Amino acid sequence: MTILLVEDDAGIALVITAALEAEGFTVSVCDSIAERDRLLASERFAALVTDVMLTDGDGIETIGTVRAAAPDMPIIILSAQNTLDTAVRASDTGAFEYFPKPFDIDELARTVRQAVGNAKVRGSEEDEVPVAGLPLVGRSAAMQAVYRMITRVLRNDLSVLVLGESGTGKELVAEAIHQLGQRKNGPFVAVNTAAIPAELIESELFGHEKGAFTGAVARHAGKFEQADGGTLFLDEIGDMPLEAQTRLLRALQSGKIRRVGGREEIAVDVRIIAATNKNLEPMIAAGQFREDLFYRLNVVPVTLPPLRERADDIPALARHFLGLAASEGLPRHSLAEDAATLLAQQPWRGNVRELRNFIYRISLLVREDRILAPAIAPLLAQAAATGRGDEGQTLDGAVAHWLAAHHPAPGRVYDEALAAFERPLFLAALRETQGNQLRAAQLLGINRNTLRKRLTELAIDPGLLQR
Ligand SMILES: Nc1ncnc2c1ncn2[C@@H]1O[C@H](COP(=O)(O)OP(=O)(O)O)[C@@H](O)[C@H]1O
Ligand SMILES: [Mg+2]
Repeated sequence: MTILLVEDDAGIALVITAALEAEGFTVSVCDSIAERDRLLASERFAALVTDVMLTDGDGIETIGTVRAAAPDMPIIILSAQNTLDTAVRASDTGAFEYFPKPFDIDELARTVRQAVGNAKVRGSEEDEVPVAGLPLVGRSAAMQAVYRMITRVLRNDLSVLVLGESGTGKELVAEAIHQLGQRKNGPFVAVNTAAIPAELIESELFGHEKGAFTGAVARHAGKFEQADGGTLFLDEIGDMPLEAQTRLLRALQSGKIRRVGGREEIAVDVRIIAATNKNLEPMIAAGQFREDLFYRLNVVPVTLPPLRERADDIPALARHFLGLAASEGLPRHSLAEDAATLLAQQPWRGNVRELRNFIYRISLLVREDRILAPAIAPLLAQAAATGRGDEGQTLDGAVAHWLAAHHPAPGRVYDEALAAFERPLFLAALRETQGNQLRAAQLLGINRNTLRKRLTELAIDPGLLQR
């Protein structure tokens, strides 16, 4: 069986060819769309593995010709453009699988084997038009894993559970799934279960009949009914009282709801996306969260990494928010490289939300058009000293919070905790001494070489704090 590989990077083509040959395939390689179409017209291939950016065009945009020549041939797309947009465009072609570069070569070979084994008649799932201008920014490996999960739930109604610390973009992911998915013409209804008093949750979710309780002066449609035909986003699901969890589970199992004080069961057609910043497993063990509800919601988990674990994304996010701030009427700024690097070194315990708020603040405060590191260093110090009221002002609280959020692996707790503690401590000392390492070492009471070594290991650049 022959696989057609369209790849203009000769090095990558070689590696892929070797891996596919090891799987027992024959491989035909070409490096352009013109050549691809010529080969497809003259020969039958078991599968197509294609890059996106080719010298004579875009491998996804021109996929129509491939489909015309070989309607059932599985297509596997490789791409260096690691955006959600490419991932979505790839999945809209009905491609069998999408691999952002760099990818695991063995996994690719396995996927090709699987695709060839599965090749079946495809339905009409390709008729959706991709949506441009996606809201999620960031190309880190961690975000690509998120994008891949998103593309897997766009053509179905599986329940999605979005996990991640507060401010990591859970709601944005839910909105993206709705906007890009097959329910985009239906409503997107968000309900924050933590913000509703326990006794009103049922009425909020399921509605009530007139006179159902004191104050129910008129019939009220609940969020389930409002979301009919669309998506219901259940935010902060970990804060839902047990009673309401039971009612919710019943609604999900039956696909029907009953208004509070009502008799009839009403069928509703909603896709459920739930989110929480809590770790539900210990809550299940402690009897605070229903295990059966967890399994019902957690069909497809999407985990958003904290921002500090994808520092690569920080400069792009910062520039994105500067642009947003300008579009909302704040002065337009550009961000210098040193300032971007300094931002990327901050812990951002409030994640993307904290970064966003900080960028709006500096949009307002910095007078120069171009934002340089020295202009923001004092503002960062201020933000570190104030703010974050909810995270506990004491070190006890901070440690408890850190442990709960991080779950360091057994045997690594001490080392990881010390590293996490050193970063803000060293940054504070360097800020205090305007980036002077000798004085910072004296202030800390440690050896200057030890400080320098640790700064390197922690990727902290003291030069950025100099004035
Ligand atoms: N990847 C991202 N790209 C652009 N904006 C983001 C991204 N992630 C989060 N945001 C923005 O950060 C803020 C917090 O995101 P949100 O989805 O409300 O977080 P969560 O629900 O996890 O607390 C929002 O303003 C959101 O638009
Ligand atoms: Mg949220």
